[in-house]
Amino acid sequence: MPSGLFRFLAVIFVLVTSLIFIRSYMSIGVKTIRLPRWLGPPSKKIEVVKIKCGLSKPCPDNFFAFKILSGAANVVGPSICFEDHMIMSPVKDNVGRGLNIALVNGTTGKMLRQASFDMYSGDPTLLVKFLKAIPEGMLVLVASYDDPGTKMNDELRKLFSNLGSSYAGQLGFRDSWVFLGARDISNKSPFEQYLKNTPNTNKYEGWPELLELEGCVPRKVF
Ligand SMILES: *[C@@H]1O[C@H](CO)[C@@H](O)[C@H](O)[C@H]1NC(C)=O
Repeated sequence: MPSGLFRFLAVIFVLVTSLIFIRSYMSIGVKTIRLPRWLGPPSKKIEVVKIKCGLSKPCPDNFFAFKILSGAANVVGPSICFEDHMIMSPVKDNVGRGLNIALVNGTTGKMLRQASFDMYSGDPTLLVKFLKAIPEGMLVLVASYDDPGTKMNDELRKLFSNLGSSYAGQLGFRDSWVFLGARDISNKSPFEQYLKNTPNTNKYEGWPELLELEGCVPRKVF
């Protein structure tokens, strides 16, 4: 065999084997680079601190976080969140026209009961019964939807006032109302918002804007 041809074949051999070597090395390299990314813990930098109920800032120790949204017109239902637990919402499909109410133990933060009462065409005595049966030490969270006012009566206004409401006395047709009160509260609750249905200033044609109420309520200690 002429030495020139031998040399040529030797060069080809070295080229081909090193190509194969480089390719297999690279594919191993790629795998060993990717595997830790799939299996490893996520980087600290992309961890987002989630605040209970999506509040703008966290509550101090021994306070419960809550957020209440009234309904938007008669289109989007209200929601009630307490300590990161979405008690009532359109997604949970447990809200209704009128008043949506959740009862939470003021000591433990545990939800006891939730219900909605049709205040446009429902029976208001159901709500009277519900409010009268609220046990001691309970927090009461309320969100209006569409119309909380048509079936309001003096007895209901008084019961809500006793829970610390300042606006229950004037609640009327299609008003927006969000409220957190408590059984046996001695003063008016600081957690309440109210918007009267006023055709000139309404955000939606027949309804005022939806209301949002969020805050930290102190845990009741015995
Ligand atoms: C609220 O929780 C406290 C502490 O566990 C308990 O003693 C009390 O009975 C509860 N209240 C109601 C009405 O469930």
